[in-house]
Amino acid sequence: MTITIEKLGRAVGAEVVGVRREQLLADRDVADTVMQALEENGVLVFRGLHLDPETQVAFCRLLGQVDTSPGHHPVPGIYRVSLDTAKNSSASYLRATFDWHIDGCTPEDDAYPQMATVLTAKAVATSGGETEFASAYKAFDDLSAEEQTSLRSLRVVHSLEASQRGVTAEPTPEQLAAWRKRPTKVHPLIWTHKSGRRSLVLGASTDHVVGMPVEEGRALLDSLLRRCTTPDRVYRHTWSVGDTVIWDNRGVIHRAAPYPAGSPREMLRTTVLGEEPIE
Ligand code: OGA
Ligand code: MN
Repeated sequence: MTITIEKLGRAVGAEVVGVRREQLLADRDVADTVMQALEENGVLVFRGLHLDPETQVAFCRLLGQVDTSPGHHPVPGIYRVSLDTAKNSSASYLRATFDWHIDGCTPEDDAYPQMATVLTAKAVATSGGETEFASAYKAFDDLSAEEQTSLRSLRVVHSLEASQRGVTAEPTPEQLAAWRKRPTKVHPLIWTHKSGRRSLVLGASTDHVVGMPVEEGRALLDSLLRRCTTPDRVYRHTWSVGDTVIWDNRGVIHRAAPYPAGSPREMLRTTVLGEEPIE
């Protein structure tokens, strides 16, 4: 077996070529190769892998601990991503995936952000529904030396309310109360990883910068987000049924291009839990 890794974007993303579904579990080297390529490229695309849910979860277990909280799907470890409330009763929350975000910045408990997320396309949208990725490591690396220093001590409040307001600007009192049940979190703007690499922690869950006038802090966060997600820094995946994409949630920011609520689009997602706090 020869696996090759072919770069897709200038800044982020690579396609994994030469691996078949049957090899994922048969050879531990595949998981090791994938983990290394993920660290280097942020996003890995496996076109036409046609992964079944059980194999997807089993492969993810080779990468780390899998999130098995209920996911509107019979296979433990699978979460069904769909805007159709018949397929996912929490579908309304998923519209927030239309804004740039990092998964797991506002957990219920003290969980660390997820390490990696896997999506397999079961059904695709007729229009929209691409997934876009940008590197959060590059977002830090591209700052000027002065900015890297001046932003070093900033801390940012993240909330579910901020994420949801992006797509539901005028919530009902019930919606607002439900969002506010989720505790807010304070994270540093700059994440220094165990590897020594640094990334920016940005996206829809950011509410304001601690100790800065709210509007000023939001303007700063917006401008940093805009700079790291310009089209030349983005890999946009156009899905075909059977594609699988894995991203490094620690060093990548992502979003879905809008698609209608009645769309057949259905992604089967598995989350590999994180072991690293944002610090
Ligand atoms: C997610 C997510 C994007 C998509 O599952 O965390 O952001 O394209 N999905 O469905
Ligand atoms: Mn997401």
